[in-house]
Amino acid sequence: MKILILNGPNLNLLGTREPDKYGIQTLQDIENYIRTIALKENVEVDFYQSNIEGEIVNKIQSAKNNYDGIVMNPAAYTHTSVAIRDAILAVQIPTVEIHLSNIHTREDFRKISLTAPACIGQITGFGANSYKLGLIAIIDFLKK
Ligand code: DQA
Repeated sequence: MKILILNGPNLNLLGTREPDKYGIQTLQDIENYIRTIALKENVEVDFYQSNIEGEIVNKIQSAKNNYDGIVMNPAAYTHTSVAIRDAILAVQIPTVEIHLSNIHTREDFRKISLTAPACIGQITGFGANSYKLGLIAIIDFLKK
């Protein structure tokens, strides 16, 4: 089983970016943590981060036939990107949307996710653990 962990804009700055909201772990710390879980679960994971919407769309398109599932934190594009939503719908790869912060307790514009309706579910508000929960959720979904 091969899972793509997709990360949107500004997540490359985790660790120093608004740590009160997003924690002190860097994206590399999160990747290391997720890799230990993936090893235990016997699944392959690839991490990808981009600040550019079109690159994320390209990555989703090229995931077809290469990945069984996607765990995606679209970051700010969650609230704006019809293109990312359409890409997920186009490739039909089961996808779990995740967020470090609980987007439903924040500004009104963050409460709306354009991308979540293309996903099998959303995990939001558990910090770096959202990545772990997202990985477990997609593995469980794909096994059934
Ligand atoms: C985020 C929430 C988004 O609203 C924000 O734009 C991010 C991070 C999160 O993981 O909590 O960049 O996706």
